[in-house]
Amino acid sequence: MSAFKAIRYLMSPSSIAVVGASRTPGKIGHEILKNIIEYGFKGQVYPVNPRATEVLGLKCYPSVSSIGKPVDLAIIVIPAQAVLPVIRDCVKSKVKVAAVITSGFGEVGNKQLEAEVVKTAREGGMRILGPNIFGVYCAASDLNATFGPKDVLKGSIAFITQSGALGIALMGWTITEKIGLSAIVSIGNKADLDDADFIEYFNWDNSTRVILIYIEGVRDGRRFMEAALETSINKPIIALKSGVSKRGMVAASSHTGSLAGSAQVYKAAFKQSGVLIASTVSQAFDWARMFSSNFKFYGYNTVIITNGGGVGVMASDACEKLSIPLIDPSEELKNKLRRFMPPFGSVKNPIDLTGMASEEDYKGAISTCLSSEEVNAIIVLYCETAVTNPVMIAKTIASSIKAQDKPVVASLIGGSKTQLAINELNYRGVPAYNEPYKAVDSLSAFFKWNKWRTKSY
Ligand code: COA
Repeated sequence: MSAFKAIRYLMSPSSIAVVGASRTPGKIGHEILKNIIEYGFKGQVYPVNPRATEVLGLKCYPSVSSIGKPVDLAIIVIPAQAVLPVIRDCVKSKVKVAAVITSGFGEVGNKQLEAEVVKTAREGGMRILGPNIFGVYCAASDLNATFGPKDVLKGSIAFITQSGALGIALMGWTITEKIGLSAIVSIGNKADLDDADFIEYFNWDNSTRVILIYIEGVRDGRRFMEAALETSINKPIIALKSGVSKRGMVAASSHTGSLAGSAQVYKAAFKQSGVLIASTVSQAFDWARMFSSNFKFYGYNTVIITNGGGVGVMASDACEKLSIPLIDPSEELKNKLRRFMPPFGSVKNPIDLTGMASEEDYKGAISTCLSSEEVNAIIVLYCETAVTNPVMIAKTIASSIKAQDKPVVASLIGGSKTQLAINELNYRGVPAYNEPYKAVDSLSAFFKWNKWRTKSY
């Protein structure tokens, strides 16, 4: 079976067998089954465990072949030495794809067993995800087959991760940060299906707007680059690459059995394939947030609208550092903007509405800039004041912007109400951050990708 077809079964199976569905809460096989049920998967779910008759209220089967009904996806959560016979049983039962959670394969030198698992599966027409993974999540099919947190937020970022523990931790982090995901795939040792296969799949997948990948090493560099190049013309790919230091390379090799490769080689290869390289986890997700919005690219001419001079200056510095051109508004535009500020405001760029700025002032200034041909993108800054309600400001900013409009990024600084306002904006598809640099940096990533895509440099 082709990788693409297998991944379709993996992401939207009609039926799932959980092999090693433990009766004991806290065991991985139990928690995966629980997540599948509680996240609301609509297809058939079959726990498999020869020592149980029922797990979490579902009838339990002694083996996959004893289910007697078609199984698209088998999640395998049993000790390494028991995996191969189960793979044979899955092949016999015409399972399409198996996600092998189990550790103890190539990453600890047990390469022969790993190769045998893949060979048996491939010869029988089945594909393997893993081993050494925490599972798979797909928003479109209400599938959370992971032992990570349950309440993953739905969105349009597909997250591919070679590190399991980091992936699980980031699942929790995306929930607190209100970041919506279309999919999460833990690829672990990628003994069969690998990053390139998933990049190709997410390029096709309509519910994904941006692909974020945590990568330690690539097995087939050429194939990765081809898949990345073809995809990044269409959708941005953000890479977090680790294992670039000497010690990091050694650690990567014992973590997932990967050859990490030199930083320069990866940098050059990523750049050539249009992959954006993020330096930190939060930067990667900041950018992903920007790309998951529905803005169109119109050009680079940018204005800053602010209620605080200081943050305006900070954002101006960041724009210069990141080569974002700040325009000098024409007299016509300046005159229009004067209506939304007191006489001591500034119509230069940054456009300073002053600390007196009301929701209506923000709305007026944003709408004016959105409808001006001089402006291609807007950075909106807000400092919490006692005379404004941050959430109302956020709602007003969001309602001033239409889908498919010019890009608008926001940075809001303040207390707990401001955090709610940031959440509100993100929820409504306006990328919002808690400091100006992040907003500017994310807009810069958006420009960089569009520059690359439109080959204008
Ligand atoms: N078919 C079906 N069920 C089987 C089985 C088989 N062939 N062999 C064992 N089981 C059942 C067991 O009876 C047990 O159920 P019970 O708890 O109700 O008795 C369940 O499967 C689990 O087996 P157990 O031997 O208790 O294993 P475990 O839960 O301690 O560990 C793994 C299994 C897969 C979790 C463990 O081997 C492992 O690899 N852990 C690391 C996983 C990991 O970190 N992955 C990477 C993430 S980043």
